[in-house]
Amino acid sequence: MRIDIITVLPELLRSPFEASILKRAQEKGLVEVHLHNLRDYTSSKYKQVDDYQFGGGAGMVLMIEPIDKCISKLKSERNYDEVIYMTPDGEHLNQKMANTLSLAKNIIILCGHYKGVDQRVRDAFITKEITIGDYVLSGGELAAAVLSDAVIRLLPGVLNDETSALTDSFQDNLLAPPVYTRPADYKGMKVPEILTSGNFPEIEKWREDQAQRRTQKRRPDLLEK
Ligand code: ADE
Repeated sequence: MRIDIITVLPELLRSPFEASILKRAQEKGLVEVHLHNLRDYTSSKYKQVDDYQFGGGAGMVLMIEPIDKCISKLKSERNYDEVIYMTPDGEHLNQKMANTLSLAKNIIILCGHYKGVDQRVRDAFITKEITIGDYVLSGGELAAAVLSDAVIRLLPGVLNDETSALTDSFQDNLLAPPVYTRPADYKGMKVPEILTSGNFPEIEKWREDQAQRRTQKRRPDLLEK
């Protein structure tokens, strides 16, 4: 898979891809992540990428020209499954969406900034608009990192234990059950006995039951889906 991220702040996006699982996924050749600085695509002398909004009002708007240039260049090099715009008024990111996107070959992610992008960008180039939650971030960069992480960890070979993404919360619309590690007794706080019993069918049943209970208690809305 290849992910091209268009941003005015590439430095904000570098570190998430330079550590741990996302770094290893790139080293293994399972994903390529390319950051594109919008300022490299402006023809204006001062590398201006934003301007005041027509009709007045506070806040700057990202201009269409540099975005058009960047997206057009990328599209001339390969086909893209989706051109995604990170925006608070987009569709909510969830596990199902991450699963679907993990099947894509090439995606572009455009990060908004200030008051957002010229509406014509959205009308002409964007195929999917995604929010990571009902709150406003300073820009789409952190949201793009969240989306990329959610997608990349699903690519075959990225996680060491191939099954571990299958037992994540939200796969099957259930939250994950509680987990424990050593010591079995910490200052009198004990691990549930079943987990140290060695009875794996019973352990599996216990986990399913705990996942059900936890979901019922914390996210009953998931059980209605
Ligand atoms: N840009 C600003 N806020 C955002 C959010 N909540 N989700 C996605 N992109 C954003």
